[in-house]
Amino acid sequence: MIKTILIVATVGMSMGVASAVAGGGCIPPEASSTITSDKDFDDYTYKTRNAGRKVFRKCKVCHTIKEGGKSSIGPNLHSVMGRDAGTVDGFKYSKAMKESGITWNETTLRAFLSNPKKYIPGNKMPFPGLKKPEQIENVISYIIEESK
Ligand code: HEC
Repeated sequence: MIKTILIVATVGMSMGVASAVAGGGCIPPEASSTITSDKDFDDYTYKTRNAGRKVFRKCKVCHTIKEGGKSSIGPNLHSVMGRDAGTVDGFKYSKAMKESGITWNETTLRAFLSNPKKYIPGNKMPFPGLKKPEQIENVISYIIEESK
């Protein structure tokens, strides 16, 4: 493990951990699976979020996430965490979404994204859901980070 941390530290110093990860594959796999220090933890969250950014490409067709972003086919998702469902001003939600009584958090978002139609019957989000649990975890991590 000491060797691993050294490699991460060296790569991190020379090119920045961010670009090392984006550049692909410089960091050995064991560095991401074992969290032993704050530095490793930051690297772990970074990777998760970066994977989430890729998943979010599917959502981007219909959703913006930046602060003040426009609602288009779907409502803006900035600060969606902690928000009551169906409450972005000016967006025409379905009755089902407005009356769902749901507050968005990790649990409700997880359930919604795995099967939107089943979780809120009658909602009008034309998206079948994400099949892989890790895609859901990664995209949630991305949404949390982008909403800060
Ligand atoms: C093809 C368009 C489309 C895609 C793709 C899409 N959405 Fe949506 N989304 C919508 C629409 C439309 C609504 C509003 C649904 C309603 O009113 O019933 C919505 C609603 C939502 C809401 C509820 C927001 C609120 O203000 O209550 C969340 C959260 C959400 N989408 C997340 C996502 C995520 C995350 C993805 C990608 C994994 C995604 N959506 C993909 C169109 C889309």
